[in-house]
Amino acid sequence: MRERLFTPLAVGPLVLKNRITMTPMYLGYAGPGGCVSGLLLDHYRLMAGSGAALVVVESSAVDFERGGGSQRMLRIDRDRDVEGISKLAAAIKSEGALAGIQLNHTGRFADAPLPLAPTDIDTVGLNRKFKEMDGADIEDVTARFASAAARARAAGFDLVELHGASGYLLAQFASPWTNRRADGYGGSPENRRRFPLELLRAVRRAAGPGFPVGYRFMADEWMPEGLGLSESAGLARALEEEGAAYLSVSGGTWESFILPEILARSLEPGFMVPLAAAVKKAVKIPVIAAGRIENGTLAEKILSEGSADMVGLARVLFADPEWPRKVREGRDRDINRCDPACGDSCMMMVMKGKPAFCTRWPPEKTKLYKSLWHNP
Ligand SMILES: Cc1cc2nc3c(=O)[nH]c(=O)nc-3n(C[C@H](O)[C@H](O)[C@H](O)COP(=O)(O)O)c2cc1C
Repeated sequence: MRERLFTPLAVGPLVLKNRITMTPMYLGYAGPGGCVSGLLLDHYRLMAGSGAALVVVESSAVDFERGGGSQRMLRIDRDRDVEGISKLAAAIKSEGALAGIQLNHTGRFADAPLPLAPTDIDTVGLNRKFKEMDGADIEDVTARFASAAARARAAGFDLVELHGASGYLLAQFASPWTNRRADGYGGSPENRRRFPLELLRAVRRAAGPGFPVGYRFMADEWMPEGLGLSESAGLARALEEEGAAYLSVSGGTWESFILPEILARSLEPGFMVPLAAAVKKAVKIPVIAAGRIENGTLAEKILSEGSADMVGLARVLFADPEWPRKVREGRDRDINRCDPACGDSCMMMVMKGKPAFCTRWPPEKTKLYKSLWHNP
């Protein structure tokens, strides 16, 4: 029985037709320079046609020059980007899904000569220097997120999601590991929360009433000195009070993803569900759980046990865009499973600056996507 998975849910003024969302997944499919390509449109049309209620477009740059991650990161930082991203929103909505887009500044991970950061600290020994953000930088980045949100609304998206996870800029401020500031934006948990909360307020104001702003939430950095659940529950409550429409819960950062213990954990079905369950206890707004939600039985269990209100699929839907349909028909066994033994090849490809394809696809699909990628 799939009693809960296929029931509607309100997220602010929106009604999701079911509890299945696609969490953002950067694939390197944008054209060079971050424009919307034919491949990107085809990919999102397919994801939206899967039957998921909400598709959140991958991490998109609010400042491509100083806060982008690669030349194929989608841009939303200029007014002229509205034309391209309007096509993306329209493609998703034409397939019957709600369209969201994730806004991101990569901070310390930027592909820039002197990346912005809360603190100039080289936590992983990469011998990199960072520009410690001053008041003007904080204002500038806040304004860039706000205008990107206004562009998303103008382009026809139904919501935006702030990327507060995976160790990017907002998470860098929240973390005691990467934020060692001595001013009002560092030190106590309240001070480290200040930048994400002020930014959320500015984004909500710029986007205007009736436009939900969700948050990709890093519940645990999975680093010995990093942000952990005992503190992040307070951040979750503060984001709720500041008007976040939902929390899409994840764990880990680019620094912890590569640790052997975390790599092993991430092979388990539902590996981030305990984090979502802990966050769900702290807030009343909808919570999304993600992480190898391989089949309908697991998805239904997550909802029935009250661990989350929605499930988020990334690689799982990428491997099999028929997941929602098969689950609805009780055909868990027919799902083309994301293969834990492939060594996270989609992730490895994007880390090398290449487009991601799935080892589980039929060869002709990979061939077609490759040719589309070379001719954006
Ligand atoms: C190649 C790749 C790219 C990703 N890109 C993003 C992203 O842009 N933003 C984000 O919040 N999460 C991103 N994620 C994390 C996914 O949204 C998701 O939380 C995670 O992969 C677990 O779900 P899954 O097991 O269904 O893939 C990415 C994951 C992968 C594998």
